[in-house]
Amino acid sequence: VTAATATRPQPLTAAANLLANRPELILAVTRPLRRLGPVISAGRSAIVIGHAAAHEVLARHGDFTVAEVNGPAMARYNGPFVLGMDRSEIHDRERAILQRSVHPDDPERIRSTVRADVEVLLEAARPEGTVDVVGGLARPTATRLVASYMGIAGPDEATTMRWLRAIFYGCFLNVGDDPGVRQAAQDAGDEMHVHMDALVARCVAAVAAGDEVPDTLLSRLVRLRSDPATTLGDEAIRRNLGGVIVGAVDTTSKAVAHIVDQLLRRPDALASARRAALADDTDELARHALEALRFNPINPVLARVAARDTEVANGRSAVRIRGGSRVLVAILPAMFDPAAVEAPMDFRTDRAADTYLHFGAGLHTCFGRYVNLVQIPELLGALLRLDGLRRADGPDGQIAYDGPFPDRLVLEFDR
Ligand code: HEM
Repeated sequence: VTAATATRPQPLTAAANLLANRPELILAVTRPLRRLGPVISAGRSAIVIGHAAAHEVLARHGDFTVAEVNGPAMARYNGPFVLGMDRSEIHDRERAILQRSVHPDDPERIRSTVRADVEVLLEAARPEGTVDVVGGLARPTATRLVASYMGIAGPDEATTMRWLRAIFYGCFLNVGDDPGVRQAAQDAGDEMHVHMDALVARCVAAVAAGDEVPDTLLSRLVRLRSDPATTLGDEAIRRNLGGVIVGAVDTTSKAVAHIVDQLLRRPDALASARRAALADDTDELARHALEALRFNPINPVLARVAARDTEVANGRSAVRIRGGSRVLVAILPAMFDPAAVEAPMDFRTDRAADTYLHFGAGLHTCFGRYVNLVQIPELLGALLRLDGLRRADGPDGQIAYDGPFPDRLVLEFDR
């Protein structure tokens, strides 16, 4: 499974992808801007590069909204979903129902599922002594979790991966409104909906008949219909689960590729991460993962629209932002703000948890956080326990991107 788009992207889309995958460049461009303050506002645009200001903008979801940013594309390719909605009755109801479908012991279940899937994939890689971190490990593992835990197995794994990547690209990253990206997202969405509608209908019928059904987010959403307060119609189950799974795969594989790439650039950090892996210390591995990802996050920027004329604190004064402005919350530079992050260029695993903005903040905080904090350390730990882990020679050992998504990163290890 490779390109989400058959056509060459338009210049603006290509430029956005290029910039998004060059964190050093983003930091170099934003560093001199710091003397202008944590928020720079001009006309109907604003960029937020301060850490406290980024938290403030994400927390003020009534003033800085997402519906205009994500709503139309989500509606086109998936159907309405919480990440494309501002605070409203339907948002609150659906977010609460999704939350109800998660059970307290899910992280442990996810851990054992992921561990077993990773073991199988690495066992297959062992005779060659090489592994593609993306296509041979993280992407299929996350896709298998979508099947086993979320209850959505596509016709085959390659098709599921193609659908999820194309829809994610179309919903969130098609900066230049590239027609090839749009078409691929539309086609994938149409195909996935037909498939998911059938899965939902089958599950509804099986639950109604009292048949035994696997315990998944899908079957839980169906069972939650026994209470009117938590009833979602078939179509609402499909678009809510659709939104969740679209966010679940390429995010994970991008994070793992970026984390491994950053660790391989830092022998000391790689060595301490390996010690944590060998000790099976998930918390310490997660701290390494979050810190490594700070140097190359999966979303350097989160977008909002100012709902009205407003202000954001800027030391003792305030920055005015005009209603209707597009506000870019640049979480990458925010995580390097020297006013909030001590010695930002240093790799440290003892930073406060709120240093990291990887999963957003406020109303739209990542729903998959509980998955990520287990799945990513599991993937990372299994890789780091391999002896002699190193990059493959030449371009294979560097991340190859398919548009905004890491598609391949080949590592070698001692067999
Ligand atoms: C490293 C992996 C991941 C990262 C870095 C990540 C990051 C994010 C971020 C930054 C947001 C907020 C976007 C915004 O405020 O504009 C978000 C929202 C969301 N994420 Fe993730 N995500 C990851 C993995 C996942 C996974 C595995 C799932 C599913 C299990 C998931 C599901 C969601 C959903 C449903 C939302 C929307 C939440 C809402 O609007 O209420 N994400 N994610």
